Amino acid sequence: MAGQEEWAWILYLWGCLMSDAVVLHEKLGSTHLLTINRPKALNALNAEVIAALDAGLDLVEADPDARALILTGAGKAFVAGADIAQMRDLTPDQAEAFAAQGQRLADRMAAMSVATIAAVGGFALGGGCELAMACDILLGGEAAKFGQPEVNLGVIPGFGGTQRLVRRVGLSVALDLCLTGRIIDADEALRIGLLSRKVSGDVLEAARGVADEIAVKGPVAIRLCKRALHENADSPLASGLAAERKLFAACFETSDQKEGMAAFLERRKANFTGR
Ligand code: CAA
Repeated sequence: MAGQEEWAWILYLWGCLMSDAVVLHEKLGSTHLLTINRPKALNALNAEVIAALDAGLDLVEADPDARALILTGAGKAFVAGADIAQMRDLTPDQAEAFAAQGQRLADRMAAMSVATIAAVGGFALGGGCELAMACDILLGGEAAKFGQPEVNLGVIPGFGGTQRLVRRVGLSVALDLCLTGRIIDADEALRIGLLSRKVSGDVLEAARGVADEIAVKGPVAIRLCKRALHENADSPLASGLAAERKLFAACFETSDQKEGMAAFLERRKANFTGR
């Protein structure tokens, strides 16, 4: 028989099927879950979805107890890309504004103070792959598929794909994926370093597990660790190390550092407050 938690999930998934909202928001303990909910269009990103995701991020940022954010898609896709029907008649100026909107959303995801986890159960193509890559941890299920197939449409990635892919997987693999537009499975995505982990069971459950794991760490450390990595991934080693030293030092101004080290030495669990 299903336990209380399983029932909550069944009800949540039922709610996804029944709701008209293009992005669903749910809070599960200290974890926020945003589900892109346009399953009939494979969760393609149009202006409405992007605005709703932005609003979802506002909720997470306003919550002092938030510790993680999971981003996922309803139905068989994570996100099959930017909405082609909406893009078809864009002028160059409108296309630039649309790309700026998508890039700003991806930048905002990457800069969130809490850990962000993409739970990819199906297609993560084009803008979907770009959004997943803006998350800190990218989990892919058995059926996950990734790609930057924009060249098939006569365009290039516009929500950061050429830039984030090259940083995740290196120039030769990024050029292969962007120039051929080929779609890869979770095994290949893991092998090339696009995926953080491949998950054999339910990808959302796995994402919740990762979120729970992170939720008990020091929140300030999570925030500063993210900054050290995201803000310095492209820096020369010396300036990256200098930034790391400053952020490391900043940890020693916090109660979390005192509590974390005291708890270790007293052989007890740390009770972090995020201060
Ligand atoms: N935009 C708008 N609608 C989309 C879509 C997209 N990106 N992807 C899928 N859909 C719609 C389809 O048009 C279809 O709608 P209808 O039922 O009304 O015809 C519905 O979703 C289901 O799609 P399919 O019937 O095609 O499903 P499938 O299982 O046969 O194929 C797929 C799945 C391989 C993902 C295929 O849908 C596909 O190739 N989609 C487009 C992928 C793509 O090119 N993405 C990049 C978009 S451009 C971009 O993202 C630019 C950027 O960087 C900002």
